[in-house]
Amino acid sequence: MKPLATIGKPIAHDSAALHVSGAATYVDDIPEIEGTLHVVPGFARDGAKGTIIKCDLSAVRAAPGVVCVLMPGDIPARNDCSPAAGDDPILAKGEIAFHGQVIFAVVGETREAARRAARLAVIEIEKQKPVVTVQDALASPVPDLLKPYAFTSKRIAAALKSAPHRVKGSLKIGGQEQFYLEGQVAYAVPQEKGGMLVHSSTQHPTEIQHCVAAMLGVDDAKVTCECRRMGGGFGGKESQAAQWAALAALAAHVTGRPAKCRLDRDDDMMLTGKRHDFEAAFDVGFAKDLRVAGMSADLFARCGYSADLSDAICDRAMFHADNAYFYPEYHIGTRRLKTNTVSNTAFRGFGGPQGVLFAEAMMQAAAITLGCDALSLRKKNLYTRARNETPYGQKIGEHVLAEIVATLEKTSAYQRRRKEIAAFNARNRILKKGLALVPVKFGISFTFTQMNQAGALVHVYGDGSVHLNHGGTEMGQGLYLKVAQVVAETFGIDVGHVAITATRTDKVPNTSPTAASSGTDLNGMAAQRAALAIKERMAELAAKKLGVRKTALVFAGGKVSAGGKSLSFAELATACKAARISLSSTGYYATPGIHWDRPSGKGHPFFYFANGASCSEVLIDTLTGEMKVTRVDILQDVGLSLNSAIDIGQIEGGFVQGMGWLTTEELVFDAEGRLRTHAPSTYKIPCASDVPEDFRVALFASKGNKVDSIYRSKAVGEPPLLLPISVWCAVVDAVASLKPGVVPQLDAPATPEAIMRAVKSMGGP
Ligand code: MTE
Ligand code: HPA
Ligand code: MOS
Repeated sequence: MKPLATIGKPIAHDSAALHVSGAATYVDDIPEIEGTLHVVPGFARDGAKGTIIKCDLSAVRAAPGVVCVLMPGDIPARNDCSPAAGDDPILAKGEIAFHGQVIFAVVGETREAARRAARLAVIEIEKQKPVVTVQDALASPVPDLLKPYAFTSKRIAAALKSAPHRVKGSLKIGGQEQFYLEGQVAYAVPQEKGGMLVHSSTQHPTEIQHCVAAMLGVDDAKVTCECRRMGGGFGGKESQAAQWAALAALAAHVTGRPAKCRLDRDDDMMLTGKRHDFEAAFDVGFAKDLRVAGMSADLFARCGYSADLSDAICDRAMFHADNAYFYPEYHIGTRRLKTNTVSNTAFRGFGGPQGVLFAEAMMQAAAITLGCDALSLRKKNLYTRARNETPYGQKIGEHVLAEIVATLEKTSAYQRRRKEIAAFNARNRILKKGLALVPVKFGISFTFTQMNQAGALVHVYGDGSVHLNHGGTEMGQGLYLKVAQVVAETFGIDVGHVAITATRTDKVPNTSPTAASSGTDLNGMAAQRAALAIKERMAELAAKKLGVRKTALVFAGGKVSAGGKSLSFAELATACKAARISLSSTGYYATPGIHWDRPSGKGHPFFYFANGASCSEVLIDTLTGEMKVTRVDILQDVGLSLNSAIDIGQIEGGFVQGMGWLTTEELVFDAEGRLRTHAPSTYKIPCASDVPEDFRVALFASKGNKVDSIYRSKAVGEPPLLLPISVWCAVVDAVASLKPGVVPQLDAPATPEAIMRAVKSMGGP
């Protein structure tokens, strides 16, 4: 095999220079067409649940700069922007189910005019008491939003009963706001004959196309959605970019003028869904050798008022409640609770982080109760070749975690620091240190099997340059570059000759969202197949021209060569054109070998697992609850990396984002169901100064993904978000030093207040 020229190289993000100089074009940077209007959603300022008894919009309509006000009756066909269930009205009619639900939309000559006008609405809600928290929902007679679901083995009760050691506990796991830097935005431009072009900041252009077409009552083929890039999506634009695109398109349809809908940041935070918060309870039995004999868990998720993606998210939480551990007997139950809060949605990890945090909180509590080192307990319970079946029937086919953990244990000097920290804690009454080394296993594939497909479109021009398009979207994660590297490698040309182009539903149709970390796996394969189809045709002609066997040809270094003879790739492209050979192809890929039978709870939903581990050290002040992450070591398995610069960037960014989830980002809803933390002033996302001072990120020396993924690489988008679970566990470890054998009651996020509560639960410093 020829050595790889482009794959594996730490090439900078194709838009890096544009990002830092402000020259990258986001939807709001597209030059506005003359006559562009602006749409601002309107909602009741008071009330979360109830009937709309008054909706007087006369002052809104009369306000300067207002062109019209959109109401449900303006929608020509379907008033819905849900991904599947049909329970998310674009404009609510008759009643509202959460504070911030959109009732009308103002269309103005400027955004400012429309924003001012929206505030003039007089809306009255006949208020009913909202169901806000998980506890409210459990106590309320309101039925669950979705059916409960569980993986339960037959002998779980007996296994728990006969276990020599038993540990029980519970914890609250907070939600998280995506806080993409570019908020939700869409720009709709009417086309000839009732067509509509929608520029949308979306992870799912096909869903935008479909939602807008269904709303207007036109064929999908009449609507095109384009997305060049997002300034972050993080799951928040998988399903919930649709409402804003629909409102822009509705305004464009009603007025015949281009219309843009760009949410104000506070509105964005109130009106769009977040990571699901959970409450979890466990009852786990250990055998004499400290291996789990049986594990029983119940997870309660706050889903909000509508289904959105909650079923798949709660399922993924269940798929990850084992993290990396073998449970011979198990019960993993979930309830999907309906609350009068915004519909929670996808967020990096998609329920997986909540499942793994649960498992690790349990391991941490068990280690304290059993009086053993948490790392040794974790190592003892890892999946092995003999103990390798997950609660959902998939067998673990690749066992690298033991090696990853052992390597990190050495490189992070875990054992030495464990002793040093014990000595430090013995010396210091107020300041306490904690340390935790935690493995992470994350399943790669959409668990809804049919979503695991992708398409691409590749053209080679007569000058040898290449146009690349595929169904994946770019949100900063480097997908476009990775797929371009695949195409450049296939043709043996420099990646600079591969033009990366915006995702458009009229180029590649019927796409899945870019999500589940599978963007590169799916689109990389589809693009490779498109490029290979063209390469095959080009090779036929090259073989003839050079008088060599086709199989002897090598495409590399911008040349096509065999037996000492060569042609430049550009010359060959020119020759193909002259010889009337097609230089364009689509490519299609569907992940092989995966299946999932939800009714029986058994199958092989994941193509493979991404693995990693992290070791975090923290310092806490038991008088104030302040916490500092003093050192982090990470070892992540990305298979054979396609681009180590991008991969390390994803690991660093994912880790810090996950640290935010677990340490500072706290969503506060009041009893009236209003989100009180709807701006960065009250909702603390990490900033540069929150990055751990001593941050050591390494890629595992992999021999390559065991399954046939693109160049044997592994997905990297979501898994690193779970790594800072070691930070949270280290905080527990630090607090636990206050009283041997007692488990601190720490909830997530471990804010200073939560740490103080945990310290108090131990009787103080
Ligand atoms: N990285 C950046 N910079 N911005 C993002 O919005 N989203 C994450 C992750 N990394 C995100 C990101 C999420 S939620 C997913 S599912 C993956 O990227 C999606 O992209 P991929 O499948 O190409 O990895
Ligand atoms: N992950 C991310 N997004 C999804 C999934 C999933 O498993 N299923 C549906 N949307
Ligand atoms: Mo990512 S939460 O799957 O968009």
